[in-house]
Amino acid sequence: MTGTARTWRALLVGAGNMGRVWARTLQASAAAELVGWVDVRGDLVERVADELALDDLWLDSDLGRALAITRPDFVVDVTVPSAHYAVTLQALRAGVPVLGEKPMADTMEHAREMVAAAERTGLLYMVSQSRRYNPGLLALRRLILDETGPLGILSSNFSIGARESGHRLEIASPLLLDMAIHAFDAARYLSGADPVSVYCEEFNPPWSWYRGSACATAIFELTGGLRYTYQGSWCSEGCHTSWDAEWRAVGPHGSARWRGGDDVPIAEIVVERGGFLPVTEERRAGDTAVPPGIAGSLRDFLTALETGTTPMGACGDNIKSLAMVFAAIESAAAGRRVSCRLWDGA
Ligand SMILES: NC(=O)c1ccc[n+]([C@@H]2O[C@H](COP(=O)([O-])OP(=O)(O)OC[C@H]3O[C@@H](n4cnc5c(N)ncnc54)[C@H](O)[C@@H]3O)[C@@H](O)[C@H]2O)c1
Repeated sequence: MTGTARTWRALLVGAGNMGRVWARTLQASAAAELVGWVDVRGDLVERVADELALDDLWLDSDLGRALAITRPDFVVDVTVPSAHYAVTLQALRAGVPVLGEKPMADTMEHAREMVAAAERTGLLYMVSQSRRYNPGLLALRRLILDETGPLGILSSNFSIGARESGHRLEIASPLLLDMAIHAFDAARYLSGADPVSVYCEEFNPPWSWYRGSACATAIFELTGGLRYTYQGSWCSEGCHTSWDAEWRAVGPHGSARWRGGDDVPIAEIVVERGGFLPVTEERRAGDTAVPPGIAGSLRDFLTALETGTTPMGACGDNIKSLAMVFAAIESAAAGRRVSCRLWDGA
């Protein structure tokens, strides 16, 4: 799966829904070996390891003890967002690089400290933005780079009524904190631009089964004057979009769209102007094969460990996507447009 020459020993932290997916991905990887699994709920990690027939690894409820006993090459942090800060700092202080789940942290202060800890220790802390590893998103990006030209308008629509479980049902801004980060990060990836400011409203329809706001609408300004509009709902049943959202991107030479998932993105590029409407030609991107989802981020992380290169998702870059989340939450609370430059404390 990777071009790495050696096998890297992984300590997995968090045995909830996504922890199980990571356990299977690490197991399936030729470049990684799962040597231990930690969850504050020791009974849970034992039950889940048993269900997955993982009997040859260290199971623990205490991260410090597991780090000392298993001596891993890296930690995979799949805990709840409010625990990412403590888990990441503990691992980095113990001299162990971290591949952590999105969102990086539960506050910008914590995220800035996590970036500072990675810089101080000289260790890699990468956030797994798994939805970047999607052939369709890569194809859309290529159409933007090669066909539409630099974007002036970008929009995405996410609409899924999922009966989620775990922390999402209880936190204040489940859509913005736990799901919208995927779209915000993709907007940065597609445009190559950095966030400047945002106006956002978040709300919870009467029928929502989430305690916090499951819906939001946001207008971002990004560098170069790009406007990115986000429309999201995690409690809309029927007429679902894909989990990647539906995208439309507009540049000086034409438009591109992608419905997410397996949909093949297309661009319509102007070949003749002069009439009331332009004459356009359809374009598609070439091959954009990539290991999908978390397998892709694991590959990038291990390649970076081996080569010393900076991977996509390195914390110093990913914090800009997180800043979009917290600026949107702040804007919704304040009822006004706010700055997104939270990653440097502005
Ligand atoms: N990339 C994706 O597509 C994707 C999909 C789902 C979830 N996620 C992310 O994965 C993370 C986990 O989500 P989930 O659905 O598995 O949540 P979950 O609530 O099902 O499980 C989280 C687990 O973390 C454990 N935990 C909490 N604090 C801990 C600590 N300090 N040390 C050790 N364990 C601790 C909990 O006991 C629980 O078992 C979240 O950040 C979420 O946003 C990503």
